[in-house]
Amino acid sequence: MTTHAQIGSSPLTAAKLRNPPRLAGGLPVFGHTGAFINDTVGLLQRTHDECGAVGKFKLFGKDVVLFTGPEAHEALFRQPDEVLSPNAAYKMMVPVFGRGVAYGAEPAKMAEQMHMLYPALRNNRMRTYTEIVARETLDTIASWGEEGEVEASAFFAMLTNYTSSSCLLGKEFRTEMSEEFSKVYYDLERGIVAWGYIHPYLPIPAFRRRDRARARLGEMVSEIVEARKQSGYRGEDFLQTLMDAEYKDGSKLTDHEVTGMLVAAMFAGHHTSSVTTAWTLIELLRHPQFLDGVHDEIRARYAEEEAYTFQSLRDLEKTERAVKEALRIHPPLFILLRAALKNCQILGYQVKKGDWVAVSPLVAHRDESVFSNALQFDPDRYGPGREEDRRPFAYISFGGGRHKCMGNAFAILQIKTIMAVLLHRYDFQLVGDTIETDFQGLVLGPKPPIRVRYRRRARGRPLHDAKEHPASGGD
Ligand code: HEM
Repeated sequence: MTTHAQIGSSPLTAAKLRNPPRLAGGLPVFGHTGAFINDTVGLLQRTHDECGAVGKFKLFGKDVVLFTGPEAHEALFRQPDEVLSPNAAYKMMVPVFGRGVAYGAEPAKMAEQMHMLYPALRNNRMRTYTEIVARETLDTIASWGEEGEVEASAFFAMLTNYTSSSCLLGKEFRTEMSEEFSKVYYDLERGIVAWGYIHPYLPIPAFRRRDRARARLGEMVSEIVEARKQSGYRGEDFLQTLMDAEYKDGSKLTDHEVTGMLVAAMFAGHHTSSVTTAWTLIELLRHPQFLDGVHDEIRARYAEEEAYTFQSLRDLEKTERAVKEALRIHPPLFILLRAALKNCQILGYQVKKGDWVAVSPLVAHRDESVFSNALQFDPDRYGPGREEDRRPFAYISFGGGRHKCMGNAFAILQIKTIMAVLLHRYDFQLVGDTIETDFQGLVLGPKPPIRVRYRRRARGRPLHDAKEHPASGGD
């Protein structure tokens, strides 16, 4: 009898396992690849609508099984890496992070490496990061004056690049290497293209530029590591944490590994935080009833003193719920993948070795049986008495289980800090037409240009009261 890794229901033999229902349509070899490229979210949603909690479609010649619903998410997230592997699914990231680092390492080694990030995420560090984020935000808006207009996507991308490079890479990168870092980071990002799914080392220009950028970044990190060792300077950043870290056998990370871990943290945290900051502002501007509550909360909290501290930020509950709700409606990582290394069964369904397995936070968060009026922006759904996120594995913007996001608290703190600084000082208004989601990249964000008008806060008179209400729209 074939044995199966099993989780999520009582033990079943292979004979009793069901095959996941297959989505209709699709071409013989390419399957649903065309539909996935043209309308990724539409395909995922159709799979759920037509097949239910478990459905299968074909992508790049592989069967992809989509699991939706808290129970299914839990069953999937609890599978060991030896059965459902993120490393095999995300192997296109290996050249970016580097061989032997994160998804390029064996699961046990990757787990050790991830564990090394924890000291960088403790509360004492969060205090430092809060100050850095507040200062970077204040510096960035220092030239704004009384009123003006800003393109929100570019603005938040730039601001979170400053904050992430300060907190993660350290002050040397932020102050002395900022320009060159932006360039190599850009080339690394541009090296993540669909061809990577087919083979991450194809001889194409985008991959050559990516590899040159990765090599140069390694040199830059080595220079800083050496300079810190020489001078005895210790940063309060991820770089220092990784320089200090040791494997269980007492060995240290190599510079190549330190670089790879920093790149991994930047990639995990930069765009995701940038687009979420943009969406939070956009959704609040579209929903004045919630914006007013957030304004009041921020302006009351900072009425007497203007120090944006870790502690004061903790008091901004409405702001936090708004961030959380923006993340539910617009989860930046809309599909989370695993590759099946063995036959296994999830909730009584057969997953075959070689299949890909997916959950989609976007589809999951539109499930009316889990979130009431799921398409509505309603931060109060997390408030006392409702707590719609209480059910385990229902809210999965940060994933779940052993690979759940490690930077979630940092990300929310960062976005709250930016919101507090901006909304404390300025009133904002959306300009222009409906804002759509940009489905072009790995991280879903609002489609630029997002024009936002700002005006220095006139106490007691929010901009949306003073002027006609701005355009609003959906996806
Ligand atoms: C709004 C911002 C963020 C979102 C929406 C987000 C989302 C996610 C999700 C969904 C995963 C799970 C991926 C999977 O299971 O395949 C993940 C993993 C991860 N995230 Fe985040 N993330 C954010 C910010 C950050 C930040 C700021 C950092 C670090 C500073 C970070 C570090 C990580 C790491 C290291 C992992 C991998 C954990 C592992 O595989 O063990 N993330 N993130």
